[in-house]
Amino acid sequence: MVGCTSAPQTPQIAVYLDESKPMDERVEDALQRMTLREKIDIIHAQSKFSSPGVERLGIPELWCTDGPHGIRPEVMWDEWDQAKWTNDSCTAFPALPCLAATWNPDMSAKYGKAIGEEARYREKDVLLGPGVNIYRTPMNGRNFEYMGEDPHLSSKMVVPYIQEVQKNGVAACVKHFALNNQEIERHAVNVVVDDRALYEIYLPAFKAAVQEGGAWAIMPAYNRYKGQHCCHNQYLLNDILKGEWGFDGATISDWGGVHDTKEAALHGLDLEFGSWTNGLNWGASNAYDMYHMAMPYMKMIESGELTTKALDDKVRRVLRLIFRTAMNTKKPFGSMNNEEHLEAAREIAGEGIVLLKNDNNVLPFDLNKQKNILVVGENAIKMMTVGGGSSSLKVRKEFTPLDGIKLYVGDKANIIYERGYVGDVTGEYNGVKSGQDLSENRSAEQLIADAVAAAQKADAVIFIGGLNKKEGQDCEGADRSELGLPYGQDAVIEALAAANKNLAVINISGNAVAMPWIEKVPSIMQGWFLGSESGNALAKVIFGEVNPSGHLPFTFPVKIEDNAAHAVGEWPGKEDVHYNESIFVGYRWADKEQIKALFPFGHGLSYTTFAVSEPTISKNSIKEGGKLTIKCKVTNTGNREGAEVVQLYIGDHESSLPRPVKELKGFKKLHLAAGESGVAEFTITDEDLKFFDDKRHEWVAEAGSFTAYIATSAEEILHQVDFTLK
Ligand code: BGC
Repeated sequence: MVGCTSAPQTPQIAVYLDESKPMDERVEDALQRMTLREKIDIIHAQSKFSSPGVERLGIPELWCTDGPHGIRPEVMWDEWDQAKWTNDSCTAFPALPCLAATWNPDMSAKYGKAIGEEARYREKDVLLGPGVNIYRTPMNGRNFEYMGEDPHLSSKMVVPYIQEVQKNGVAACVKHFALNNQEIERHAVNVVVDDRALYEIYLPAFKAAVQEGGAWAIMPAYNRYKGQHCCHNQYLLNDILKGEWGFDGATISDWGGVHDTKEAALHGLDLEFGSWTNGLNWGASNAYDMYHMAMPYMKMIESGELTTKALDDKVRRVLRLIFRTAMNTKKPFGSMNNEEHLEAAREIAGEGIVLLKNDNNVLPFDLNKQKNILVVGENAIKMMTVGGGSSSLKVRKEFTPLDGIKLYVGDKANIIYERGYVGDVTGEYNGVKSGQDLSENRSAEQLIADAVAAAQKADAVIFIGGLNKKEGQDCEGADRSELGLPYGQDAVIEALAAANKNLAVINISGNAVAMPWIEKVPSIMQGWFLGSESGNALAKVIFGEVNPSGHLPFTFPVKIEDNAAHAVGEWPGKEDVHYNESIFVGYRWADKEQIKALFPFGHGLSYTTFAVSEPTISKNSIKEGGKLTIKCKVTNTGNREGAEVVQLYIGDHESSLPRPVKELKGFKKLHLAAGESGVAEFTITDEDLKFFDDKRHEWVAEAGSFTAYIATSAEEILHQVDFTLK
């Protein structure tokens, strides 16, 4: 009997479906099976947040979600209104400046893991975040989605976030590449910046995201650079991202950021998404075919105006993205709203809260002594997860500061609340409503009088104010209208300071604010937008269960003119915006001009004290390709546990091009029990000494003498040690 002896046939699986095959082979196999129309379809959106796969070949759709602080609720297929799902509420994590303020990459990993699991559970393939645009000015309305002013800090903090998200088979889409530093005229403004500032300040975090984090996707920004929109920018996307950095992932346009088919085809955009149905204006329905990367692109290929070379490169990148995410059968299932995620949100918030000032150790409040505690301010009762633009969330539960304080205190003390001022009484974004009605009938004078009367009787007063997510404050699409606090809060704070000496002011914001009352208030804390666990995290710090260990990821200037973009640069720009300050951003400018900050970059206090020993240096000189180490002993000299962030800055004494006085090149966060010591050890290589030589278009380290500064902020230098590069 013929056939009885032959082995049973196993069905042949197509190469592109075979996960044991190398990625590139799979991509080529899928590519050669696709028709021109299928290639065109896969590179543009089919709905607000999805792009099609290839139905015929069983290649699935790609689903995106905002990002970067939690998983956005489901919107309609073709509209921004809510889809009214009932299973799409999420855990809100602290806003990214808070994460950066932890100065703890382990917190980034925790954040990435938890948000990645939530994205995965909701079956999303691409998380639109994190954001790493440099904090150029406190007026930028989107700073609350970014990681501060320093390229080294944001580079170190972004990498673990990406790596942990992507372990879930969810791509991190790092945004907004690049120079996206204002919301006013964000679709039109053209940034004029020199190459040194571009490479030394604005690009490093993106480079780290790609080369160290292995990001699978990058979102080019809305603004223009060298006259081209970033979403189709030869210099940024082809030359730098894909050329110099070797990025093998896909670029996903910011929503509606594409303006020209030919440029998009040739200048490195891979996937087009839109805010407007037809990619051009509002309102036409089912017009995704009109996207620049849809029929207009196909027509140019059919007419011979463009070849399929660039198209095939885009399709390869999108296929790779789909294979890494939607078609990855080994990925975990994810999870949502579990205790571990809430715990992560609480812990990150607790580590990111920054104690800015604490005269007479007013904080922490002591529930054994302070039995009548007054809480004042709208931000004590306002939900902050709704609003602010695309990062707005629908949370399972948000503990406001007042909720958290009451829960924590229980019956140990009497908590009284007074409004103090009225700001924004509702909260709504794209149909998600906070459900809060904070309207109030009393006049501004009466509100202050009532708060003062209560403060006079209280043992301690906590003012919780700052900014919110309304347009003109920390919000996408518009920038801030002033550095000062809105809604007359300064007057409330002044009045409270006069009424009670046990006053703590907690500023909730994603940005620096002016504090004209600083001398009158003994204790000030930076609270951020802290997400679901906001109140619980704050209460633990206010009452001392958690010892604050956050340090500022950006400078708080005394006045706006102290910021370089406002002193010598331009902001906001209308057509062109000139970054005249060049590399002198944040503390680099303050150092150069010897401007004392209200609170400097890197600043943060603790309820305990630390001593940092004189550093020891392994050798006094370093050769090309060599390294040296600097160590110091850090001791917790107080009587409770706490954490100190030791910062290493390096200054170059002679160089052929201007350099900052010093730049952050390392940091270590040490958690120490009372009396315990640890070692902060830093390795310095010649890479840390380089600057970007714009004439040679390369990073160079010039021989000469350098100083390493051991510091606890850009202004608090504890020790310094010199060395040379031979
Ligand atoms: C924002 C992006 C966001 C996208 C999708 C845009 O307006 O700039 O950050 O990811 O919308 O919501």
